[in-house]
Formats: sequence, structure tokens, C-alpha cells
Amino acid sequence: MVVLGLAGGFFVTRRVLKRIDAMTQTARTIMQGDLHERLPIAGTGDELDRLAVNLNAMLERIEALMHGLKEVSDNIAHDLKTPLTRLRNRSEEALRASESLPQYRAALESTIEESDALIRTFNALLLIARAESGQARGDMIALDAAEIARGVGELYEPLADHKGLTLRVEASAAAPVRGNRELISQALANLVDNAIKYGASGDAQVKGINGRPPEIVLKAIDRGDRILLTVADSGPGIPESDRGRVLERFVRLEQSRSEPGSGLGLSLASAVARLHGGELRLEDNHPGLVSVISLPRATPQLPSALA
Ligand SMILES: Nc1ncnc2c1ncn2[C@@H]1O[C@H](COP(=O)(O)OP(=O)(O)OP(=O)(O)O)[C@@H](O)[C@H]1O
Ligand SMILES: [Mg+2]
Repeated sequence: MVVLGLAGGFFVTRRVLKRIDAMTQTARTIMQGDLHERLPIAGTGDELDRLAVNLNAMLERIEALMHGLKEVSDNIAHDLKTPLTRLRNRSEEALRASESLPQYRAALESTIEESDALIRTFNALLLIARAESGQARGDMIALDAAEIARGVGELYEPLADHKGLTLRVEASAAAPVRGNRELISQALANLVDNAIKYGASGDAQVKGINGRPPEIVLKAIDRGDRILLTVADSGPGIPESDRGRVLERFVRLEQSRSEPGSGLGLSLASAVARLHGGELRLEDNHPGLVSVISLPRATPQLPSALA
């Protein structure tokens, strides 16, 4: 009995130790930088297998995050190099060619302008990365999307006025969502910014619609299970074939090159919508564009006495 017991114990322990050894070996390879490796699974469904499955799921997530990070840094490297080089060359040119104080002034002013644009691009990229990594999921609270719409409307009214556009906000009824106020406001602001920038160009700007100045309408709509935040303009709109493409980072349509921008506004809006379990849709306004952020409606909390 003793001999049998010892022999059995020896074999079982050896098998387990061998599997742990294999796992250690794989972990070592992963630590050396090969994130594709996965821990071996014996298929027995025991504790060691379950541990390996969970660790593999964790590795999967880490790999996805690393991939996202790499993409963002590639984008930064690629798209910020041009403005930085331009900034440098202009400063050099100013040092070489400027002779009077006003010339130096002008050169410095354009340097500041260009730096501001760079800072804006950086901030947008960081916000997108934050939304995409799901990091912001931690600080989601109960919000009224209608209130956000009214706030953004108020903020952009002077700019719309300045461009000869009317900005109308229809958001009187409460529209409960769960989310991050800063990110949702920024996403909606980007859509309104686009409507003001691009909705004022084209025929609508010259003639107006039926003699009235062109209008931008910002709405918060309660659809029962979804809350829609919509921004409608009557500018040239976006052709259907381009509507997927413009959501990508740094994509700008040829017709918009005359307006300042870096092509990140819609990427951010889309990333924010996805973070909240919703989506960003671009639709036709005949004429113009309707951008729709669709978010899940927050279910009303039961009073604790009933719960
Ligand atoms: N309301 C609109 N009407 C017509 N075209 C639009 C409209 N909104 C966006 N677009 C097109 O989609 C492109 C991408 O928009 P996006 O907001 O992502 O970037 P941007 O406005 O060019 O720059 P940024 O928002 O970073 O300042 C724009 O360059 C423009 O060509
Ligand atoms: Mg924009």
C-alpha cells in the first residue's frame, strides 16, 4: 500500500509540476516580448486549465491594448511630423530673413498659431485613446443628454451667429443616459463644430433656405430604449461612399481642405459613442448632413424602498 501510494503520489505530482513548468516556460517567452504566445491548455478542465484559460484571456486583452497604443503612436509619428517640420522651417526662415520688429512679430504669431493647432491635435488624440481603451468607463454617472445638448448649443451659438447661421436647440424633455459628461459634450461639440464649419458652405450659404438663413438643428430625442443626439445642417453633406471613411482618424474630404481641422472630430465622436455602448451614424438631410449619436437610454433607478 505504502509503495503504491508513494508511486501514485510521485506520478501525479510529476505531471502537475511538468505542466506548471510548461506554463513558466511560456510566461518567460511572453515576458521576452512575444505577446502572441499563449499558455498551453491540456483540455482536462481542471484548475490548472481554468487558470491557463483566464490568463490567456488576459493576454488577449493586453495584446489588443498594445496594438491600439501602437496604432496611436504610429499615427502621431506620421501626422504630427509634418506640422512640426513646418514649424521648425518657418522659425528658421524667420531668423534668417526677418529684419524688422513687425516681421519677427508676424513670424512669432504664426508660430503660436501652429503650436495651438498641434496642441489641439494632441488633446484630441489623447481623448480618443482614452475613449477607445475603455479607461473612462470607470467614471460614468447618470446624466441628462438634453441638458448637455442645451449646454453645447449655448456654447456654439455665438460662433454660428458669426457665420450667419441660426443654431436651434430642441431638447426640452429629459433624456437620461449613463456616461461621461466631458466626453459626451466633446463628441456633440465636434458634430456642431462640423455643422458650423461645413454647413455654411455651398448654395445654402448664398441663398438660404426659402429666403431664411441656413439653420443648424440640435436635438435630444428619447426613443424609448435609445437616446438620440442629432445635429442637422443644410450644407453639402457627405456622399454615402465616404461616410465610413470619414470616421477614421485624420481623414478629411477634399472639399473641406479650405477649413482648418485635423480630421479627428468624427473619430472622437465615434469612439465616445462606442465607449457608451452606442454608435455614431451619418445620414442624409436632403440637403446636408445629419450626424446622430445613438446611446442606450438609462433605465430609471427604482426607489430603494421598492427594489
Ligand atoms: N456637416 C458636415 N458637412 C459636410 N462634410 C462634413 C461634415 N462633417 C464632417 N464632414 C467631412 O468629414 C471630414 C472629417 O470630419 P472631422 O470632424 O473628423 O474632421 P475635421 O472637421 O476636418 O477636423 P477637426 O474636427 O479635427 O477639427 C471633414 O473634413 C469633412 O470633409
Ligand atoms: Mg470636425
